[in-house]
Amino acid sequence: MAEQKSTNVTWHENHVSREEREKITGQRGCTIWLTGLSGAGKSTVAVAVERLLADRGRLVYLLDGDNIRHGMNANLGFSPEDRTENIRRIGEVAKLFTDAGIICLTAFVSPYRADRDKARALLAPGDFVEVFVEASLETCESRDTKGLYAKARAGEIPEFTGISAPYEAPEKAELVLDTNGKTIEESARELVTYLEENGILPR
Ligand code: ADX
Repeated sequence: MAEQKSTNVTWHENHVSREEREKITGQRGCTIWLTGLSGAGKSTVAVAVERLLADRGRLVYLLDGDNIRHGMNANLGFSPEDRTENIRRIGEVAKLFTDAGIICLTAFVSPYRADRDKARALLAPGDFVEVFVEASLETCESRDTKGLYAKARAGEIPEFTGISAPYEAPEKAELVLDTNGKTIEESARELVTYLEENGILPR
């Protein structure tokens, strides 16, 4: 829990329940949390999954690291403390989307296990699906789609995940998507199949 600075605030119960909202959306809300190195394919897979789900008439919303850092989290950098705060806020937002009956996809490096576990703990068991988008550092660095690894190697970006900042791989992810030798389409379908097989998505 973050430090509570606000005092004299009272919790009000909503009068419309999650069940009622889920009847309206016709689906179960959940959070699908993608984690992995920069360049592992999180955003690309998430965009493909978002398309597959929307084509099936599912209400889905993607929260993406680079985009969220342009707005809500524009005041955060990449120090360990700022990353923790970044993930804390995303966890809270994902909880709201889930409660709203929406399938929330998140694509953040989220390098610290403890931060991901806190996001998981905000949700009921089964509502949080941790997906490790796995690609070796060599693969990510060879892709270097944004040119950031080259900059990090040149010392132009401090605290770059995988180079000069740690990445703690999940130990209990619901799903590991190894993107090393797979197409985006294959990885996206693998994730959708997992959701179907685990009752999160109707077949
Ligand atoms: S997180 O570590 O706090 O979860 P987040 O997913 O929001 O990171 O943002 C990561 C994105 O920011 C990367 O995809 C990359 O494009 C960019 N970025 C810029 N600086 C860094 C850095 N020092 N470490 C990792 N990613 C960085």
